[in-house]
Amino acid sequence: MTSLLEKLTKELNPLGDTPALDAQVLLAHITQKERAWILAHPELTLSPAQEKTLVKSLDQLKENIPLPYVIGHWAFFGLDFIVSPDVLIPRPETEELVECALSWLHAENKKRILDVGTGSGCIPISIAKNAPDLNLLGIDLSPSALNIARQNAEKHEVADQIKFIESDLLANLQPATFDLITANLPYIPTETLKTLDVYTREPTLALDGGTDGLNLVRRLLKDAPRYLAPTGMILLEIDSSHGNAALSVAHNAFPKAESRLLQDLSGRDRFISVQT
Ligand SMILES: C[S@@+](CC[C@H](N)C(=O)[O-])C[C@H]1O[C@@H](n2cnc3c(N)ncnc32)[C@H](O)[C@@H]1O
Repeated sequence: MTSLLEKLTKELNPLGDTPALDAQVLLAHITQKERAWILAHPELTLSPAQEKTLVKSLDQLKENIPLPYVIGHWAFFGLDFIVSPDVLIPRPETEELVECALSWLHAENKKRILDVGTGSGCIPISIAKNAPDLNLLGIDLSPSALNIARQNAEKHEVADQIKFIESDLLANLQPATFDLITANLPYIPTETLKTLDVYTREPTLALDGGTDGLNLVRRLLKDAPRYLAPTGMILLEIDSSHGNAALSVAHNAFPKAESRLLQDLSGRDRFISVQT
């Protein structure tokens, strides 16, 4: 007999690239069970209320609403984050930025961290959950994104370590010094963005990087020297096609620092590190 999971996987097939995983995630959400439980129980049937939620969710998915927004949460760095259409859906590449930040923090025993363009708060919250006694600040231009970030910090019990403020990059920042500045800023060139499916699915403010995609990176790196500690690090996520251009922006802003291009797990240029 065909299981509910198999039927749902088939139904989700035209709606995304990972129908089997999406079907597991959706059923896990509706039944409030783990994905492993769903896989281990092919006999699963839904209650009438759960059935109703499934029908509603399928309608939303068919309207091109991403699954994380339909279920209202998404996994990142082994944690479950609240998400809404006000924030970017956290991506797996960004988990690599968190890993890199954590290895540096552990090796250097540094404590003061600034995350710019924090969105759901997934970067500072994942860092705070995996390193002790940190002092973190998250910045975003979007008040509604900050509202989600604050909810996530409460949910993961790190609200006492992370402050969130509304600011256009570093414009509203009081004089301060940070050991580590992380940022996954919008980096898709405006005209390219308009041609992509993501344009209608996630907030433009989280995606639009201006004419060449590097506007925000350029502005951040120009102001960052005033806020970075003498032996500090900046870690930026970039578009894989911007490697050399972003590196040259970093060299210009920090001529005496060691700026490097780092690759993601698929071997693509994905991060810039600047070490002073
Ligand atoms: C690509 S999303 C990254 C969100 C989150 N850090 C992550 O990795 O999932 C970029 C974020 O930058 C914010 N943003 C855009 N322009 C900004 C600006 N001028 N100043 C501060 N934040 C900005 C957006 O609201 C969005 O939350």
